[in-house]
Amino acid sequence: MDTAWAGAPTFLRPESTTAREINSLALKLLVICALVFVVVESLLIVSIIRFRKRRAEDVRQTHGNTTIEIVWTLIPAALIAIIFVFTVRTMNTLDLPGGDVPVQVTGHQWWWEVHYPQEGVTAANEIHLPAGRSIDVSLRSADVIHSFWVPQLGGKTDAVPGRTNRATFLAATPGLYQGECAEFCGLQHAHMRFDLVVESPAEFSAWLAHQGEPAAKPSSPAAQRGEQVFLANPCAGCHAVRGTAAQGAIGPDLTHLASRRMIAAGTVENTRENLDRWLRDPQAIKPGALMPTLPLGDADRAALVAYLEGLE
Ligand code: CUA
Repeated sequence: MDTAWAGAPTFLRPESTTAREINSLALKLLVICALVFVVVESLLIVSIIRFRKRRAEDVRQTHGNTTIEIVWTLIPAALIAIIFVFTVRTMNTLDLPGGDVPVQVTGHQWWWEVHYPQEGVTAANEIHLPAGRSIDVSLRSADVIHSFWVPQLGGKTDAVPGRTNRATFLAATPGLYQGECAEFCGLQHAHMRFDLVVESPAEFSAWLAHQGEPAAKPSSPAAQRGEQVFLANPCAGCHAVRGTAAQGAIGPDLTHLASRRMIAAGTVENTRENLDRWLRDPQAIKPGALMPTLPLGDADRAALVAYLEGLE
């Protein structure tokens, strides 16, 4: 993993075969459009300069000139046909046959649920992948239309309520890639991001095995008190912490919250200060988020932060 720039979400730095195909198509279309622009604008500028002294009455009208009309219909039609052929050829290369790693991703307002069906592992806002193996994402939505997009790895795929869409790609280079929701889906659409972590197959297996384990038992008195606070408050009604009585399925699974880089779907970094701010007033960080403000005292909130920090 190198600098922040390496993970910056831009399709101009493709890192998968799929993204390279899309990038090369985009460049071809850009060249065609640029040529059209240059030719049309040049003719326009020449006409403006060359004929500016002519009086309107002296201009010969060419209305009804069949030859000209056929020519300016055929040229755009030919250009669009060329674009069509390029596009269909690219589309045919995008769908990788049978991905190696199936992942179910569900868009929620405003976060991503991540489920590995073969291992029964559930995570949120962070997808891990082994380098060099293809991923097969089944994409769903729990509420409105979202769009799954990792600019460096592939094109956008909509998550539509009531149906399952597929996205496949293969990332060869380990690294951190940022993904985002690319379809306006409400107030916090811009804070619906996720990390896509491509790592060595051994690191990936270790991550997956760890994510499949139940939550760590709270180790300090503060964390133990935090667990009680968690279970006694509405937290447990919305969030699951596997290995405890908390089985809520409305918000993100928090079993391994502390292992994630960010919280609130890529809104702020996962630090003690930010967890505390988030619990004190989620609406100040992410207005409109479904996370309510809980009436917790300072001591209870500190205990809850200690508990959440231990969920590695
Ligand atoms: Cu989800 Cu925009």
